[in-house]
Amino acid sequence: MENTIETALRWRYATKKYDPTYQLTEQQRSLLEKSLQLSPSSYGLQPLHYFWIQDSQLREQLKAIAWNQQQIIDASEVLILCAKTELDESYLHAHADLMRDTRGMEEEQIQGFRNHLIDAIGKKSKEDIQNWNSKQAYIALGQVLHTSALLAIDATPMEGFSATALDELLDLEKKGLRSVLICTFGKRAEDDKYQHLKKVRRPINSLFTTL
Ligand SMILES: Cc1cc2nc3c(=O)[nH]c(=O)nc-3n(C[C@H](O)[C@H](O)[C@H](O)COP(=O)(O)O)c2cc1C
Repeated sequence: MENTIETALRWRYATKKYDPTYQLTEQQRSLLEKSLQLSPSSYGLQPLHYFWIQDSQLREQLKAIAWNQQQIIDASEVLILCAKTELDESYLHAHADLMRDTRGMEEEQIQGFRNHLIDAIGKKSKEDIQNWNSKQAYIALGQVLHTSALLAIDATPMEGFSATALDELLDLEKKGLRSVLICTFGKRAEDDKYQHLKKVRRPINSLFTTL
């Protein structure tokens, strides 16, 4: 198990060139979706939404606002990770309701959590909420990258795009969303030279301190 995880994490790399003929199976895509669904988030709020971009014209438009990165065209799948711009009371109530109903709880058992959510999140500014929600997208990204490595699916996390232009392209403001990240999935091209580069990582002993 430990060996498998380390091998997978060393195998993965931010793929620069994909095999454009390769298509993920429905099962692989569904596993990636489950990984994203099961990603942890603060209070379990999952303030996220994902778009799969399949339309070729849309991919061309996306590439133009994403530093012309060719992965957007050639990867089997292109995922946009978006965060909600607001967490209004109705969303918080819906979350508490879902928790109560999923776990078969009585309303009084959830009341404390419900009130805490409304109180704590109600005190946050809109900017704080947006930053906080965006962080949840990074957690989901980390999880799906790990999952894809274990499934031997190549992936590229991307921040190299204009979020403003992407928000306009997908009309995200109206949907109460902001784009945070792009992640592409597929199969590395045989001639992607990046797959042969050594991993550049700081030594473990410079990353950890035991106190
Ligand atoms: C949040 C984030 C944004 C990134 N944005 C891009 C990007 O726009 N294009 C790209 O080719 N790689 C991007 N990368 C990949 C990193 O450059 C890469 O993960 C890092 O250099 C370590 O290399 P490795 O992932 O191949 O081990 C991004 C990585 C992360 C985590």
